[in-house]
Amino acid sequence: MKIAHFSRIGFILAAAGSAVGLGNIWKFPYIAGEYGGGAFVLVYLVTVLSIGFSIMIAEMLIGYLGRMDAAKSFEKLAPSNKSRWRLAGMMGIWAGLLIMTFYSVVIGWILHYIVVAFSALPSSVAEAESAFNTLLHDSIITQIFYHTLSFILISAILVRGIKAGIEKLNLILMPMLFIIVGGMFLYALTLDGFSQAWDFMFSPDWSKLNSEAFVIAVGHAFFTLSLGMGAILTYSASLPKEVNLVKSSLYVVALDTIIALLAGLMLFTFLYQYGAEPSKGPGLVFISLPAVFYEMGTLGNAFAILFFFALAFAGLTSAVSLTEPMVQYLIDKFDMTRFKAVVVAGGFFYLVGIIALLSNTTAYGDMLHFGSKNFFDWVDYITAAFMLPFGGLLMAIFIGYKIPKKQVFAAVGKSLGRAFSVWYFILRYIAPVALIIVMLNLLGVITF
Ligand code: PFF
Repeated sequence: MKIAHFSRIGFILAAAGSAVGLGNIWKFPYIAGEYGGGAFVLVYLVTVLSIGFSIMIAEMLIGYLGRMDAAKSFEKLAPSNKSRWRLAGMMGIWAGLLIMTFYSVVIGWILHYIVVAFSALPSSVAEAESAFNTLLHDSIITQIFYHTLSFILISAILVRGIKAGIEKLNLILMPMLFIIVGGMFLYALTLDGFSQAWDFMFSPDWSKLNSEAFVIAVGHAFFTLSLGMGAILTYSASLPKEVNLVKSSLYVVALDTIIALLAGLMLFTFLYQYGAEPSKGPGLVFISLPAVFYEMGTLGNAFAILFFFALAFAGLTSAVSLTEPMVQYLIDKFDMTRFKAVVVAGGFFYLVGIIALLSNTTAYGDMLHFGSKNFFDWVDYITAAFMLPFGGLLMAIFIGYKIPKKQVFAAVGKSLGRAFSVWYFILRYIAPVALIIVMLNLLGVITF
């Protein structure tokens, strides 16, 4: 593999760019809304700070020690059963492309809403709802157009490679994203709705925490941190040797959590302030929010433009990290040029993305509905609730049991200091047990 190294700050921003994505600004607020707020947020936070943080270090370590694409890194480092461990990497690589099938469609919606924000915002929630539903259910050509635009943008960045593409993109977009979200949060702080938003996010109502909410919260912790599928691993393979993995993990986890909480508080403040519903589902930022921005008058238009740009930035920096593991794999395995690898990987999510998009439409929805969900929702559910936590479980076992403790200690022992044994204990016992419980619950073997 031809290695182009990230700079230190470039790596942290790229890893944070991967983590901070649609998961933080689009998904987190609406699932927190759907599952009742406080208790859900708490389970998510505890998972992120304990298991999430520990597995983040483990995943970085696999890339850092392996120095190859996700599949080859596992294969190279595994002391035995090499080809089986390779599959752990392969599963992650595919999970990324599967996520991309709906992720690119959602980025398309966002690009469409940037255009809307520049023109006329919907003047009521009802109007906003009907506009979003029309886009989703009836506007096939518009959706394909924006999905195509999203595919072109993502591919154009990826063909430039690690340094000139991914690193540069993150160096520019991430600071802008922080400024926009931070600025809008400060404004939200001045509104009365803020205290209601705070209560909604942080006062747990335990009766709302059923086992489904629990599983979704754990799954989301993985999704939002980009864990368990090799995105962070693939980036870490291009790290300069002298980087401190523990510190880098800490920055990424902290930035991701801060942005999710700021975005959530900001959004719910606006919703409460203007009397809109927090439990609107996936349409939350596309229905309730545009109507709220309309209510704000001229300032609202500026906010709408900034908000949807921030959302697009968050989405794009994550999308490149979702596709790069497959791109790197194709380059390593088949000796493809980067350009060809991007066309193959991008072509896959582009075409399957069209199926995902069609599964939301009135015309093709029935055909693409299986059991309780349509194709779009199944991909989201299977990847976030199952594939990522399962990938995380395998990573915890890999570092906790398969790689000699001496080698692990040599890489992160010094920077973890006395926390090393706590971290190692979480990887060996806490994370596997928690994740196995989640998996069994998902498979319907146990309920709680
Ligand atoms: N973390 C991204 C988000 O919150 O939107 C999504 C994601 C990116 C998941 C990369 C997994 C991944 F490997």
